Amino acid sequence: MKTFAAMGAAAVGALAARDLVQKEHALKRNYPVIANLRYLLERVGPELRQYIITDNDQERPFSRDQRRWVYASAKLQNNYFGFGSDNDLEGHVGYPIIKQRTFADVAPATGTHAGEATPLPSAKVIGATRGRRGAFRPESVVNISGMSFGSLSSAAIVALNRGAALAGCLHNTGEGALSPYHREGGDLVFQIGTSYFGCRDEQGRFDLDRLVDLCAGAPVKMLEVKLSQGAKPGLGGMLPGVKVTEEIAQIRGIPAGVDCASPSRHQAFNDVDSMLDFVEMVAGATGLPVGLKSAVGNMDFWDDLIGAMSPERMVDFINIDGGEGGTGAAPLVFADSVSFPFRVAFSKVYRRFAEAGLTDDITFIGAGKLGLPDNALVAFALGCDMVNVGREAMLAIGCIQAQKCHTDSCPTGVATQRPWLMHGLDPDLKAARAANYIKTLRRDLLKVSEAVGVAHPALITADDIDLIDGLQSSRPLREVYGYGRRWGTVGPAAAEEITAIMAQLHLPEPA
Ligand SMILES: Cc1cc2nc3c(=O)[nH]c(=O)nc-3n(C[C@H](O)[C@H](O)[C@H](O)COP(=O)(O)O)c2cc1C
Ligand code: SF4
Repeated sequence: MKTFAAMGAAAVGALAARDLVQKEHALKRNYPVIANLRYLLERVGPELRQYIITDNDQERPFSRDQRRWVYASAKLQNNYFGFGSDNDLEGHVGYPIIKQRTFADVAPATGTHAGEATPLPSAKVIGATRGRRGAFRPESVVNISGMSFGSLSSAAIVALNRGAALAGCLHNTGEGALSPYHREGGDLVFQIGTSYFGCRDEQGRFDLDRLVDLCAGAPVKMLEVKLSQGAKPGLGGMLPGVKVTEEIAQIRGIPAGVDCASPSRHQAFNDVDSMLDFVEMVAGATGLPVGLKSAVGNMDFWDDLIGAMSPERMVDFINIDGGEGGTGAAPLVFADSVSFPFRVAFSKVYRRFAEAGLTDDITFIGAGKLGLPDNALVAFALGCDMVNVGREAMLAIGCIQAQKCHTDSCPTGVATQRPWLMHGLDPDLKAARAANYIKTLRRDLLKVSEAVGVAHPALITADDIDLIDGLQSSRPLREVYGYGRRWGTVGPAAAEEITAIMAQLHLPEPA
């Protein structure tokens, strides 16, 4: 009996040692031995759940199928699905159907990982219309959304920043300032939030000189003025006190251990007119393109913005965040019920800019579960030039959707400031996974574009995707969202340019 107990203890000890040494799974490093149960349950879970709990498409915010696709893509595993769709294509009103063409000049590569190396730059040059000194064509139409150091751990920020460098995409700092962990080689979008972390004076007011210095000392490619966020529109950022460590307090210039609540609105401007002056002042001083991030509620703001824009005063990009977007912490009613979900939100804004003839002058970015190919393709068809990925990038670096980001007890080390939990997340390994996931998403966007008969997702129009309308019919996005003909794609000059660029970039795939 004693021998069996000794053998059992030795086996558990060996398992614990193996879990602690390996770097593949953050969960196992943080919870040696016990975490193996999760992987066992994960393995037999589908069979159990099929009879007992949920199906592949029920869980929210991301279904099991969606998470599985992100995980498999991030690990470069086989991310194909067998036996056909398990979605209810006919019974699901609003289900998007992408309409492939039978004959076209472009043809998608078929292999599992074929096409992953093909770059997918933006069809527009950000800041070109206003002639900003730092105008540039983003190398990737998929970029990492703003999630600050504070809501995410330092290890997660390092993984995302290195991942951005590997994938050749932009990494948005979020509103929590530019930390040392953002300096791992990835190009940055610096976000200017209502607390002006990273560019504020001792009284917490916006400080232009500090912003200019910050941009000069880091690879900042553009500046994003955050007006609101889909998960908590109308409310400022919120970092719970348990996550405000000494280091974060120092980076942000705030007291440690106390809830860090940002104001709901900006101090540096108070209407559209003064906001455009602010944009021009910041762009003039830094030379960088400047844009807005906003959720969509009352439309007066957008009408006023269009009315006030002129060749001398305009924003270079608009990033629309859907109401279904993620957050580190928000009141439930704001997360669930304030501001429109992405498709409604984006189309309301885009339609107004299209009617005013301004869509060619501005880069449109979208976020809100757009890190999944089908959602992203609808976004491109509605007029997005680029998509940002937030939680999907978190999934790629190990998040298991435990939804405890606001408690500082994230089991995978992604959204915590506790060193022992963070210790499980190996930044190098997860950087590669973030990059693999982004490359795979780009590859899928390109493949589907080619199936539709165009060389780039920005060339997909609102007529190329239908929404299922019950059992007997479907309606194109153009009709559903009240778009005009050829809306949702770029103008003829940009279309010609990006087609030529893609022809050069698209190397023939091995058979
Ligand atoms: C943990 C976390 C932190 C976030 N922090 C910020 C932030 O600092 N600034 C911001 O504009 N959005 C923030 N967001 C919102 C994301 O940038 C993104 O707009 C939103 O999650 C929708 O994208 P997704 O569906 O791909 O996650 C955060 C989201 C998460 C999940
Ligand atoms: S594992 Fe859970 S707590 Fe951690 S980042 Fe993901 S959802 Fe948030």
